[in-house]
Amino acid sequence: MRSQFVTKTGVIAATVGSAVGLGNIWRFPYEAGVHGGGAFLILYIVCVFLIGVPVLLAEFVMGRASRANGVGAYRRLAPRTPMRACAYMGILASLMILSFYSVVAGWIIEYLWQSIVDLFYHVTQAEYERQFDSFIANPWRSLGWTVGFLLINFLVLRRGVEKGIERISNLLMPLLFLLLIIFCVNSLMQPKAMEGVKFLFKPDFSQLSPSVVIGAMGQAFFSLSLGLTCMMTYASYFSDGTRLTRSASITAILDSLVAILAGLVIFPAVFSYGFEAAEGPKLVFEVLPAVFAKMPGGAYWAVAFFALLFFASLTSTISMSEISIAYFVEERKMKRTAASGLNTGICMVFGVLCAMSFGVLSDFTICGFTIFNLFDYVSSNILLPLGGIAISLTAGWIIDRNILWDQLTNDGHIRSTWVRPIRFCMRFVAPIAITIVFIYGLL
Ligand code: TRP
Repeated sequence: MRSQFVTKTGVIAATVGSAVGLGNIWRFPYEAGVHGGGAFLILYIVCVFLIGVPVLLAEFVMGRASRANGVGAYRRLAPRTPMRACAYMGILASLMILSFYSVVAGWIIEYLWQSIVDLFYHVTQAEYERQFDSFIANPWRSLGWTVGFLLINFLVLRRGVEKGIERISNLLMPLLFLLLIIFCVNSLMQPKAMEGVKFLFKPDFSQLSPSVVIGAMGQAFFSLSLGLTCMMTYASYFSDGTRLTRSASITAILDSLVAILAGLVIFPAVFSYGFEAAEGPKLVFEVLPAVFAKMPGGAYWAVAFFALLFFASLTSTISMSEISIAYFVEERKMKRTAASGLNTGICMVFGVLCAMSFGVLSDFTICGFTIFNLFDYVSSNILLPLGGIAISLTAGWIIDRNILWDQLTNDGHIRSTWVRPIRFCMRFVAPIAITIVFIYGLL
């Protein structure tokens, strides 16, 4: 018997747990900062609801209808089509993402450690930046945390999906949300906070460029864990009573809220303390210590926040790992522990390379990207949307329409008002919109 999520909140907790992670709190502010704020935010939200939700539903439908891993789902639902290649691409991309994601998760562990021993709350701004630079360039510390994080991930994975994830997510995600709201209020009370709010919410369409549009779409896919059959694999553990449309909308709304809240913590602080919005991947790690340093009891808030963010990252990496583990176990007949070990081993090799691209390998670039940036760019901006096209086309055109209808209405038990518009989005809107963004990006 395959395992299933046992409770109704378990499903939401698992999908939101997968979606909410470093993508919202680290990647969204840095991408929004690089791409000029307001215009990026609007495009991102449009992508989430116009493309993201239909693709998410397509993954849910395919996962629950097949009750199989990504490769198995394509094999059962779209036999004898070349679409299955996309599931293999998904496995590859999930390993790439997991590798660089673990490096950033390692930075979180370092910050948690630093907050516990209370090292960086007495220093000046220039020192935060210098400290962070010397930390990520330090080969042993950063590598050690990356490997350490992957080991913890391995230990949770070995136990299986329902015990590991449901419990962590149910309790800790709401707490993280609460902390973000508190920090957001704190940031908004700082001098010049309004400049940050304007930056985030006031679109300046003169900033619009192909890279902004591609970045916004990539961010929507990354943040919703889409395109790699990750949500498909999770949906294969849903019970028959789970309402797919409702779960997808709740996931998309909560996920976007967390990203916007993170933006409202970071950008007012960026303007108030004089950081650079377009700083890139380091942004959040330089701004947050400054935020905590100015908060009463900052070191305690910092410990709580980094601990929760650590768990949020873990629920995301668990979901990412589940793609390849479910494949190894179901298609290659491996034992779960061996499959988790293989997944962890591969990511350790690539993860170490990604970590080193901030130090010894910082001059090693491919097409102008360091290994870390290359993995991030190629997977998020190219592979995830490509996977999204394949998934929405498969759910919209290839699988039997009765399967789609049964899944979306739970065999006729819930109203079917939304089925037609959703199918329309899967068949036309999502694939065409993704293609247009690609073409625009290539111009
Ligand atoms: N969505 C997660 C985040 O925002 C990351 C993630 C988990 C992911 N699973 C994924 C991204 C699958 C792409 C594909 O942190």
